[in-house]
Amino acid sequence: MIRFKSRVLGVMVVSVAATTLLLLLFGSTLRLPPAPANMSFLRVPLRALNDFQQQQQRQQQQQQHPNAFSSSANAQESCTSGGAQRVEGLPPLYIITPTYPRAEQIPEITRTAQTLLNVANVVWLVSEDAPAPTPALTSYLNESSLNTVYLRAQMPAKYMKAKNKPRGVANRLAGLNWVRANAKEGVLYFADDDNTYDLRIFEQMRWTKKVSMFPVGLVTKLGVSTPIVRLGKVVGFYDGWIANRKFPVDMAGFAVSVPFLLTRPNATMPFTVGYEEDGFIKSLGITSADIEPLAFNCTKIWVWHTQTKKNTAAVPIAQNNITMGTNLDVIKGLLWKDPKGTATTTTKKKETKKKKS
Ligand SMILES: *[C@@H]1O[C@H](CO)[C@@H](O)[C@H](O)[C@H]1NC(C)=O
Repeated sequence: MIRFKSRVLGVMVVSVAATTLLLLLFGSTLRLPPAPANMSFLRVPLRALNDFQQQQQRQQQQQQHPNAFSSSANAQESCTSGGAQRVEGLPPLYIITPTYPRAEQIPEITRTAQTLLNVANVVWLVSEDAPAPTPALTSYLNESSLNTVYLRAQMPAKYMKAKNKPRGVANRLAGLNWVRANAKEGVLYFADDDNTYDLRIFEQMRWTKKVSMFPVGLVTKLGVSTPIVRLGKVVGFYDGWIANRKFPVDMAGFAVSVPFLLTRPNATMPFTVGYEEDGFIKSLGITSADIEPLAFNCTKIWVWHTQTKKNTAAVPIAQNNITMGTNLDVIKGLLWKDPKGTATTTTKKKETKKKKS
């Protein structure tokens, strides 16, 4: 039996041994073969397994040496613990998520972050349309173990007065410019924070050569927006709002190869409500023959426009001897307060529905 001089040394040796064992046992799952179609997607992420085993180890050690792990047990864990997966040789995904301050912002960002934690080699560009960075958002991103980039871009003033505002364009363009300036390989995807993503769509879009497309559920009364595919080729589009669009698709329904994007220096997204996707894809200069239908020739719905219910701003917490000096002092800082001050106890703000959805 080996006696360690100090508990610290003992802890270090145990951690190194545990890590080595885990790498030996599970290291092989890190070298994923490029298998776009049938990749198993419900595998327990290596990271979660790692955390679980380390925690078990800690508990066992704690029983033997009750004080040995007290400092690490108290340590602040990252909000998306474990760390994002890096897999050598796998094309990176540049995921642009436009966002803006509202009651649902942090819940939606949390949901999207936790989806992306299950995807390898992601660079997550969170681009906020706000007059100043939202502290709750930037601290969430800083605490996240994902590879995140925070960007901020406001809608130009001239569009602010319009009845139908081209929301999310300025901040998506900021993401697009970042990708142009910093990326050379991989794939670009616009992932709004209010959608639901099946992990399989990320693995398929990773291999996009020019522009790939796939169905998006819960769009318009048709319940789906999708290319129409016959014998492996896109022959049309099924969408509840075709208008005069050449590519009537949803923002979440296509991905673009970064090397291909870089050959189209003038490609951009127009500030035209309802025509953002069509304008952007047209500016890439492709034809229907160039479109790669994913999700098994568009027979699977692997993305949904979930559309979270709008919530009103929080009613302020009363400052009285029941609330003061309690957790509510902290909770009040977490509640969404509309800077325009529209929160009231009785009237519910009418939602104005715009665009096609
Ligand atoms: C898509 O359809 C084409 C033509 O029928 C077929 O060759 C191809 O294997 C299909 N792809 C998938 C992934 O199912």
